[in-house]
Amino acid sequence: MKKFSPKETPLSLYIHLPWCEKQCPYCDFNIDINKKNGDEDLLIDAILSDLEASKIYISGRKFISIYFGGGTPSLVNSKNIEKILLKLSSSRMINKDCEISFEFNPKEVTLDYLTDLSNIGINRASIGIQSFDNVTLKSLERNHNADEALKALNIIDSIKSIKTSIDLIYGVMGQSLSSFVKDIEIFCSQNISHLSMYQLTIEPNTIFYKKELKIPKDTEIEKMEQAAQKLLNKSRFYQYEVSSWTKEKSFSKHNMNYWMYGDFLGLGPGAHSKITSEDEITRMVKLKKVDSYIKNPSKVSKNQITTDGYDIDLAMNLLRLKDGVSFDELKSRKIHLTETFLKKLDLGISNNLLEKNGIKATSIGYKFLNDTVNTFS
Ligand SMILES: C[S@@+](CC[C@H](N)C(=O)[O-])C[C@H]1O[C@@H](n2cnc3c(N)ncnc32)[C@H](O)[C@@H]1O
Ligand code: SF4
Repeated sequence: MKKFSPKETPLSLYIHLPWCEKQCPYCDFNIDINKKNGDEDLLIDAILSDLEASKIYISGRKFISIYFGGGTPSLVNSKNIEKILLKLSSSRMINKDCEISFEFNPKEVTLDYLTDLSNIGINRASIGIQSFDNVTLKSLERNHNADEALKALNIIDSIKSIKTSIDLIYGVMGQSLSSFVKDIEIFCSQNISHLSMYQLTIEPNTIFYKKELKIPKDTEIEKMEQAAQKLLNKSRFYQYEVSSWTKEKSFSKHNMNYWMYGDFLGLGPGAHSKITSEDEITRMVKLKKVDSYIKNPSKVSKNQITTDGYDIDLAMNLLRLKDGVSFDELKSRKIHLTETFLKKLDLGISNNLLEKNGIKATSIGYKFLNDTVNTFS
């Protein structure tokens, strides 16, 4: 395979903070609900030593974005977040204009906590609101109610240095079209420039998977999507990725880097990395269990992306972007297109799944994105 350009590949940092107060029945993230006294300090020390040992993978490159995800990062003391950020800045690993995001559950959004996080450099918040309707929140067995969700948004609005995104879920048991429309209307009435909107998925290994659930019919779900699109567009929000909507181009810089095939280093239990070197791209995963990770934070399982796997790996990311990526942009980001990729691109174009200019799904290709991506397998 042709050589890559690691120095010119933008690099992000993901830090996984796994603890949650309870297990939500739909969630298959790598979480832990048994946090014991002292665990937090042990995990932060392990993350710091993992960071030190990971310098070999990134050879002096700086992070364009940092993302504290979970689990529920907002259950972690701000002093411990500060420790990580201080270490990153004293090691000169943070790029100028770095986006530093932090995930919250609404319950932990307090003025004191947010002020502390803002003072140490957090400049973007992602809040797991899910819905403003207590019926939907109850179906999802969330540990917060609609009033707490609105209160969280009021508080966050008072911290001007923090940009906000919220998560909403649709296609939930007992959720009506009018209830979801109300959720979108409430979102649009807030001073927020980014939305992540997910259809409820029932993943194996979750509590919901074992239950008989009365999920709204496909036709109802389609109506929810259409109504949301109409309302969001009316409020100048546009979809730029499968689940992401923004106004005024307040994209998530961190997630954009994933979809634009940038590199990322993952620290913390079960965190994933993608690292480009001059002649190969390697994906890595840390040990999943908190205790195992604490004992051995540098241990990874590695998987090199083969010549065969490269095309689909690349397509799977780029094609998530609604506007696709132009050939000029690919060139400036030094993203290599193999001969086989270009042949498959032609096939996708002749099947009307892909546009002629750049790497972009047609509207039908975007509707059936899995099929479109599979053109590159
Ligand atoms: C790590 S959580 C966000 C922070 C926090 N743990 C919370 O739940 O509020 C990431 C987001 O993924 C979404 N999500 C998780 N599991 C999902 C599922 N099965 N179907 C749809 N969305 C899901 C939720 O919107 C959730 O807010
Ligand atoms: S949805 Fe969020 S709070 Fe619930 S278990 Fe998953 S990570 Fe934890």
